[in-house]
Amino acid sequence: MKITLIGTGYVGLVSGAVFADWGHEVVCLDIDQKKVDKIKDGIMPIYEEGLEELVKRVQAEGKFVATTDYEMAVNHGELIFICVGTPSNESGAADLSYVFSAAESIGKYMKEGEYKVVITKSTVPVKTSEKVSEHIKVGAGSKKVDYDVASNPEFLREGTSIFDANNADRVVIGSGSEKALNLLESLYAGLNTTIVKTDLASSELIKYAANAFLATKISFINEISQICERTGADVKSVAIGMGLDNRIGPKFLNAGIGYGGSCFPKDVEALYRTSSQNLYDFRLLRGVMDANERQKIYFMNKIWDKYGTNLSKYTFGILGAAFKNDTDDTRKSVAIEIIKILRGAGAKMKLFDPAAMENAKKELGNDYITYMESAENSFEAVDAIIILTEWKEFASLDYEKLSSKMKGKVVFDGRNLLDPKEMKKLGYEYFGIGRHKV
Ligand SMILES: NC(=O)c1ccc[n+]([C@@H]2O[C@H](COP(=O)([O-])OP(=O)(O)OC[C@H]3O[C@@H](n4cnc5c(N)ncnc54)[C@H](O)[C@@H]3O)[C@@H](O)[C@H]2O)c1
Repeated sequence: MKITLIGTGYVGLVSGAVFADWGHEVVCLDIDQKKVDKIKDGIMPIYEEGLEELVKRVQAEGKFVATTDYEMAVNHGELIFICVGTPSNESGAADLSYVFSAAESIGKYMKEGEYKVVITKSTVPVKTSEKVSEHIKVGAGSKKVDYDVASNPEFLREGTSIFDANNADRVVIGSGSEKALNLLESLYAGLNTTIVKTDLASSELIKYAANAFLATKISFINEISQICERTGADVKSVAIGMGLDNRIGPKFLNAGIGYGGSCFPKDVEALYRTSSQNLYDFRLLRGVMDANERQKIYFMNKIWDKYGTNLSKYTFGILGAAFKNDTDDTRKSVAIEIIKILRGAGAKMKLFDPAAMENAKKELGNDYITYMESAENSFEAVDAIIILTEWKEFASLDYEKLSSKMKGKVVFDGRNLLDPKEMKKLGYEYFGIGRHKV
């Protein structure tokens, strides 16, 4: 099939490369010339395991082209996926200006007599696809263009996105057009998965409902961690006991400093806005968001309780800046928020993240922060180590050996990566989330 993807960020670039790998002819378009130049040179604008090799290969095979040429891109694809960003606007609702601008450009370059399916892959509020259709018409002006709109929300996880695209738990496609649904179904027919065919509105809502549910699970276990701290229970044990119930499942039950990233915070908030706009007060979601905000303050309280609120006499080794492990993405990262709070309290920091150093520097600058070349270097003469991202390699550091480099022997583990009893044996003062303090 001939496929075009508009927007080559985490979603557009990965999906485009994977579609090309399945044998389709793919054009990936972005308005960011620098990004497109990099991709053409085989340099990935994002960190994603296996992506560079894949993009280089499909480019060499002639199945994948990156471009800024809208006319060429729109003419190419029978299926045109909109994959641009949908960040929060000031009110917390999704900013759809990038989606609508892409739709107008698609309309502008569509030719009469050539059928296209325009598919929204970006996460958009329920009923947006109808508006996408209106914007295509605006772009097309007086031309008689032949197209259908569809929704195909994306569920990939940064860090494992290529695997996820090839091993999707399910594929959701929504449209009012049988022809569009059938074309999309044939695109995904090679996957060993369930294809959920539905209407536009349900398809759009599935994405928000899924993300809001996962965020709820995280906030739920974070709330349980507070009960653990007040009663002497251990949240890790509670999560294991809960997660073995196959109606619940073990995933997204890791207590920590709260959810962040480019999706959960904005999607939960946008769903809350959608419900308010439809005259429904989704109180559960308000609770989820409040719990998430509180969780980072509970974590900061552990640090303030130990050192006081003025941290200007202290230097901390910071492990992690990305919003989660295996990605360089720092958008809405709780790690970044905590670092900013620490800096506001006067603390100096020695920061290391295996992939997100460049993005961290862009967000944080150099004030109060020294960027280290390894996790081990972050232990040099610091009062405490603060773990903010759940990179596996932070769990397997030689804490025994590294303690001799430190000034204080203290660990604040915001991701419950370490075993409190082990840390006690090594002589550390250890603070986890919802765990016994040792
Ligand atoms: N990142 C994820 O893990 C993930 C997962 C599932 C769904 N989503 C959703 O997918 C969408 C895209 O997310 P992302 O993380 O890939 O975003 P991103 O910010 O990484 O990429 C968006 C790209 O779109 C480009 N763009 C903006 N306006 C454009 C236009 N008019 N024409 C062409 N290109 C344009 C930008 O230059 C940018 O490169 C969002 O709605 C997001 O919520 C993201």
